[in-house]
Amino acid sequence: MRYIVTSALPYANGKLHLGHVAGAYLPADIFVRYLRLKRKDVIYICGTDEHGTPISISADKEGISPQEVVKRYHDAIKEAFDGVGIEFDNFSGTARAPHHMLSQEFFTQLYEKENIQSKTTLQFYCEHDKRYLPDRYVEGVCPKCGAGGARGDQCDKCGQIYDTTTLKEPACKICGNTPEIRETKHWFIHLDSFRDRLKNWLSTKDYWKENVLNFMMGLLDQGLIERSITRDLSWGVPVPLPGAEGKVLYVWFDAPIGYISSTMEWAIKQGKPELWKDYWLDPDTQLIHFIGKDNIIFHALIWPAMLMGQDAGYCLPHDIPANEFMNLEGEKISTSKNWAIWVDEFVKEFDGEYLRYYLAVNAPEKQDSDFSFKDFQLRVNSDLNNTLGNLANRVFAFTHKNFDGLIQECKLDAECSAVLSDADALINEIDSGYQGYQVKKNTKLIMDIARLGNKFFDERKPWSVIKEDRAAVNETLYVCANLLAKLSIAMLPILPKHMKQLRQMMNLPLEPVFADAYALLDKEIQLGETKPLFRKLEDEEIDKQLAALHAMAKQDAAVEYAPIKDSITYEHFAKLDIRLAKVLAAEIVPKTEKLLKLKVDIGTETRELIAGIAQSYKPEDLVGKVITMLVNLEPRKIRGVSSQGMILAAHTNGAIKVMLPDGEGSPGSIVQ
Ligand code: MF3
Ligand code: ZN
Repeated sequence: MRYIVTSALPYANGKLHLGHVAGAYLPADIFVRYLRLKRKDVIYICGTDEHGTPISISADKEGISPQEVVKRYHDAIKEAFDGVGIEFDNFSGTARAPHHMLSQEFFTQLYEKENIQSKTTLQFYCEHDKRYLPDRYVEGVCPKCGAGGARGDQCDKCGQIYDTTTLKEPACKICGNTPEIRETKHWFIHLDSFRDRLKNWLSTKDYWKENVLNFMMGLLDQGLIERSITRDLSWGVPVPLPGAEGKVLYVWFDAPIGYISSTMEWAIKQGKPELWKDYWLDPDTQLIHFIGKDNIIFHALIWPAMLMGQDAGYCLPHDIPANEFMNLEGEKISTSKNWAIWVDEFVKEFDGEYLRYYLAVNAPEKQDSDFSFKDFQLRVNSDLNNTLGNLANRVFAFTHKNFDGLIQECKLDAECSAVLSDADALINEIDSGYQGYQVKKNTKLIMDIARLGNKFFDERKPWSVIKEDRAAVNETLYVCANLLAKLSIAMLPILPKHMKQLRQMMNLPLEPVFADAYALLDKEIQLGETKPLFRKLEDEEIDKQLAALHAMAKQDAAVEYAPIKDSITYEHFAKLDIRLAKVLAAEIVPKTEKLLKLKVDIGTETRELIAGIAQSYKPEDLVGKVITMLVNLEPRKIRGVSSQGMILAAHTNGAIKVMLPDGEGSPGSIVQ
């Protein structure tokens, strides 16, 4: 049986940040390395996702071609992967000609079987820019959850997809104008005709992660709609039909096909162009897609339907381990706010494997997790240095000093056997942990082996026993060497480079199999040159990183300042009647997320108004505060309430800050 392991193809539209690595890449790389320890026949496939509107928007903005954007980021992303030891068997890209051909074949096959049909639909069109506005070219309020910043086809907040024209408050991403709605012809895949096959297939997936299963069951219950798979764009795979000029395949149609085209590229590089078929056209192949949670619907619903519709014997996804997201210092990672840690920069400061370890300890497997620099420092220092590194150091130092670096194989007393069988029990758990993608749990179990060793070493007091019983000390060292050897295999998928170093120092074979972790070392162990495996992270370097992170985020915010508006006369300004007002009561407007209803005292009277600040203030935060308010704005009905005025507030780093007077202010005071 063969395995195809894939990681979601990253968009060639930006650099790689820690959140990417934590979600879809490191877990896959670890799994593949584990399978290799098990001597499974596995290929690890990826590449960049080179179509889609973010790339053409970037290109438009910079005045360069999409190809240039793609080239730049493809290379940068590949380099970042190298820096953290993510090793694909092939890393391709979807703008390459063979990928275009295969994607067109996929389309044609579905079309000929009448699983794709065309329809005239409505689409946003910008009169100012004289173009249709697919997907990210338009932004508005999500029709499903009400979040702002939702794009044309999907909401980042709730992850749901919807019909573009249902987007609320749409605005053109290029010029900001409100687009009109026009007719255009598009092609749709009929998911409904795959419903029974999808349901049957999904019913065999009871072993899937709960987040993925629940999401899919919900979708199937809602009923499968037809989904548009083409766009009015010039950048992409041209729709292979007459009369389809100016139309390309939707990026999410062609992207997963990249898993196959990248495998074909790999096969050619192996000198066996047909080899990809042994993997993809075998129904027993375990096809495993590692993705982030925002990609579930495409991998678990549309992509399987596309594969089924080929009737070519493609294997279907065996598992889709989708991870949650990773936050950064307690806040959502945001590339637009520059609130992110870029992998290429990080690995210039720290060993890439320290990052692997931390992201493994903190893997966002069942819920969102957080990257914090202080915690990163703590983990590296306490786990890698003081626990694992410490065991190796003290065993090596003691052996060099007292036994010229040579540990004899020997018989074991009951205490020693017990320690080693405890370790084997842990190895067993680690083994099944890897099979279930439980990287986080495994890091703890592996550290438990090191803790076992340190405790044993302490209890056996070799530093005092050495005076009367050298054989007993050799036995202690032999047990510890065995623990280190076990550990070096168990940890190999997570820290391949360091575990190789460890094995080198112990003169152990560099290509072990997982089963070796259960066996006893059956020869004497002659240590080679040994040195500390890890280094400690100092407070200064961590503080420096934290400061740089905050500085970068601010710097970026500054770039987004809007230009200063045209001058006005004093008379214009004097028309604004701004006064201090005291908040008497505040409550959330029912069924909204952003709106607060306030009752305020403006000295002469009390007023009611609606303010869109609920995402930055809880009602109780405001009651009793004196704020500034424009009191002569025409009343406006908002959600059935007549809003009599507007409170003044600043937008700062994505939050809203209400303007307060300096010191105590009394309601009614004029602001000038
Ligand atoms: N580029 C997409 C993203 O970053 C993932 C594509 S996965 C693939 O969200 F299957 F379509 F390749
Ligand atoms: Zn426009």
